Amino acid sequence: MEVVQVLHMNGGVGGTSYASNSLVQEKVISIAKPITEEAMTKLFCSTSPTKVAIADLGCSSGPNTLLVASELIKVVNKICDKLGSQLPEFQVFLNDLPGNDFNTIFRSLASFQKILRKQLGSASGAAGQCFFTGVPGSFYGRLFPRNSVHLFHSSYSLQWLSQVPDGLESNKGNIFMASTSPPCVLTAYYEQFQRDFSLFLKCRSEELVAEGRMVLTFLGRKSQDPSSKECCYIWELLATALNNMVSEVTKSFLLLIVFNQLNYKLKDL
Ligand SMILES: C[S@@+](CC[C@H](N)C(=O)[O-])C[C@H]1O[C@@H](n2cnc3c(N)ncnc32)[C@H](O)[C@@H]1O
Repeated sequence: MEVVQVLHMNGGVGGTSYASNSLVQEKVISIAKPITEEAMTKLFCSTSPTKVAIADLGCSSGPNTLLVASELIKVVNKICDKLGSQLPEFQVFLNDLPGNDFNTIFRSLASFQKILRKQLGSASGAAGQCFFTGVPGSFYGRLFPRNSVHLFHSSYSLQWLSQVPDGLESNKGNIFMASTSPPCVLTAYYEQFQRDFSLFLKCRSEELVAEGRMVLTFLGRKSQDPSSKECCYIWELLATALNNMVSEVTKSFLLLIVFNQLNYKLKDL
């Protein structure tokens, strides 16, 4: 089954939802904030668009979903305040896979716009000129018309590949790159990332306006070792848990067979 059809973060706002468990990702957004703000400032100062189209790719559903858009609108508001110029209109595209909980995002939009209007103060009409659109689909394909987006943002999403790479049959007992994975498995993951990321860049290059910007933040590692504990350890732990569960189920299944056979023989006596 394709990742595109099944992958989604836990929806809603309950205890196990992504919305309630995305503090690490929020931290990542705040670390990258100066870079994101600089990108918007340079874009705005060099092109002065009357309409700014921003797209957040892999937006998920939770407090981080609208965070970047609101920061970017505030940056432009500040520049316009300084220059005494009129705030442009904003079109914010929120992209994620079709299984994403877009309903929760849309339900939160009215209160988000109210808060934003308050924060923008004197230019309070601005938040009313901000249009939100959900864009369900994979960012490993075209999502927007040519030359239509001024700024692409994506945080903590591009480490998801478009599919499980082919040729992982020899990766026995593992669910990702692990210290016991043969070299061909590491190559398979590497090549899948190269194919996916090249396609991502090709699509965005067609959709971005001239002098548009892109801020991409995703997981990486310092170590040369692709299976280093820096990034893969969590998957090794999960694989161990899954293997233990499988062996428990197998043991119970074998016990059941023995029990049934014993029952059968007792009936014969
Ligand atoms: C860990 S969340 C990050 C969400 C948000 N950007 C944040 O910083 O909190 C990764 C998101 O990327 C989305 N994603 C993964 N692969 C995708 C793809 N091919 N196209 C669009 N979204 C994708 C997932 O559905 C998920 O919502």
